Amino acid sequence: MAKSPPKLSRPTNPTLKKPSDHKQRTTMSVSSLYSPKLSVFLLALCVSLFTLYHIQSLHAPPSSPPWSTMNYWERVANCTQELKPTVEKLRQAVTFLPLKDLRYADKALQGHTWFMSSMNDTHEEGEVQYQQFPSEPSKGRLLCFKGKDTRDGSWNSYALAWPEALPINAKLLKGLTFVSYNHYDYGNIWHGLSATASFVAWHIRNGCESPNRWILYHWGELRFTMALWLRILAEATYGGAPYIERFEGIDDGQPVCFEKAVVMRHNEGGMSRNRRVETYDLMRCRARMFCNVSLEGRIAEVNKQGLPVIGMTLLLRTGARSFKNESAVIGILEKECAKIDGCRLMVAYSSNLTFCEQVKLMSLTDILATPHGAQLTNLFLMDRNSSVMEFFPKGWLELAGVGQYVFHWLASWSGMRHQGTWRDPDGDECPYGEDGRRCMSIYKNGKIGFNETELTEWTKNVLNEEKLKKLEDAAANKIDASTSICACG
Ligand SMILES: *[C@@H]1O[C@H](CO)[C@@H](O)[C@H](O)[C@H]1NC(C)=O
Ligand SMILES: *[C@@H]1O[C@H](CO)[C@@H](O)[C@H](O)[C@H]1NC(C)=O
Ligand SMILES: *[C@@H]1O[C@H](CO)[C@@H](O)[C@H](O)[C@H]1NC(C)=O
Ligand SMILES: *[C@@H]1O[C@H](CO)[C@@H](O)[C@H](O)[C@H]1NC(C)=O
Ligand SMILES: *[C@@H]1O[C@H](CO)[C@@H](O)[C@H](O)[C@H]1NC(C)=O
Ligand SMILES: *[C@@H]1O[C@H](CO)[C@@H](O)[C@H](O)[C@H]1NC(C)=O
Ligand SMILES: *[C@@H]1O[C@H](CO)[C@@H](O)[C@H](O)[C@H]1NC(C)=O
Repeated sequence: MAKSPPKLSRPTNPTLKKPSDHKQRTTMSVSSLYSPKLSVFLLALCVSLFTLYHIQSLHAPPSSPPWSTMNYWERVANCTQELKPTVEKLRQAVTFLPLKDLRYADKALQGHTWFMSSMNDTHEEGEVQYQQFPSEPSKGRLLCFKGKDTRDGSWNSYALAWPEALPINAKLLKGLTFVSYNHYDYGNIWHGLSATASFVAWHIRNGCESPNRWILYHWGELRFTMALWLRILAEATYGGAPYIERFEGIDDGQPVCFEKAVVMRHNEGGMSRNRRVETYDLMRCRARMFCNVSLEGRIAEVNKQGLPVIGMTLLLRTGARSFKNESAVIGILEKECAKIDGCRLMVAYSSNLTFCEQVKLMSLTDILATPHGAQLTNLFLMDRNSSVMEFFPKGWLELAGVGQYVFHWLASWSGMRHQGTWRDPDGDECPYGEDGRRCMSIYKNGKIGFNETELTEWTKNVLNEEKLKKLEDAAANKIDASTSICACG
């Protein structure tokens, strides 16, 4: 059964504004204590209190004094007056705690983490872990922040406050705020993507609601930029360029509260495999839509003989972790590709491709061969079940720790097949002996050689597997599911 291409309701959020007019419209200062809103709130509270009391007193023994309307409104007015100091006390009682809690520095990523450490996440089995304000767990309170430090997160602080009793001099920011905690770096597209992909899961579960602003934290310190690739991906995903809050025009000690906020501090942790795949499906689909790339999927591409085309792409790097002899590597892949009907080899430097050129290239790729590095983050932009071949220079297996497996993880999360790694046994010797840390700094920038026998064998196997898969898919007239998931919810 053929499915019609899905429609993307791109401008899903009509309140999403361009950054310039954004701030004016979405900020509100709560400076006067007896604002009209507060008075109305107190009046309503007193009316309901007395009405309740009144109803109760009807059932009470007749000894209670009869109620006159005059008396009633006077009491309401008195009550309103009496509650004002209580609200004032609530406002004074809002307590700010450091965003970075140094007591948990040794387990910064575990449990409630050292970021907003007094708060627990909401976590249902298999779903993303998050905090939302206001919410039932927050008892209807809003999230407030104070401080603009970019060097030490223990100087920035957070608090919860009821909307009727925001802290003195607070500024209320309207709309939806995404608060992202990243233990690493928003400039690195792998780390930036892992910290922000979880918001896509929330977006899918919450009627495709898009953020009015992002607040980016690293160790509780504010960050104002993210990698261009990541910014454009966010624009494509949420239907508008992300506005990164800088708290301009807000004093250092002035509290800022958020009408609605969602906080993520555990990346994709806790999400089931299906949820992760769904998250990357949506980003892939929206990115292709945004870049005007066909949503048909690889199954649709056939050559002149009607055979499915197998797109193999070699993504090259310059500098660290580039190939020592690019033409030799290209030559081997070319030779193997030529042996397979329908195989097409594409070679490109990721560094001179725009975001949309990368999206387009990945939409034409079934097998991505490339050294370990940020450019590999593009792998989720291929059709689901496509293949990855990863290359490492000498020394990584022993010294790089779990970080070397991140693209294994990303391949698994996004429904790709990681076809293994080739590790160069040769390379510069480390002059620091057993000092792993210092040696890694050398290996990190190492270049990658090749072994003709091994590369030939590996490429041949991956190509043959891909060819088999294509023939099976074509026989089953399979429609790639990943292209029909652009609409969320
Ligand atoms: C309201 O307050 C005034 C002054 O405090 C007091 O005289 C009056 O009795 C109060 N009325 C009621 C109904 O409590
Ligand atoms: C967070 O969870 C812990 C352990 O379940 C609990 O003791 C604590 O009271 C919770 N904190 C809040 C603010 O709900
Ligand atoms: C996609 O197409 C639309 C309409 O033709 C155009 O306005 C937009 O600039 C294109 N986007 C890209 C990234 O090429
Ligand atoms: C690169 O490899 C090719 C083919 O193996 C070889 O002919 C060439 O000399 C090599 N180039 C360098 C700079 O080693
Ligand atoms: C891409 O970048 C590489 C290295 O930075 C350069 O040699 C090459 O000419 C560039 N290609 C294009 C098409 O710009
Ligand atoms: C290439 O790999 C093969 C098989 O693992 C090995 O026998 C051979 O010695 C390697 N060649 C070089 C030049 O390292
Ligand atoms: C992915 O490819 C493998 C190997 O051909 C195949 O067995 C599997 O069914 C495919 N998975 C999906 C979800 O298409």
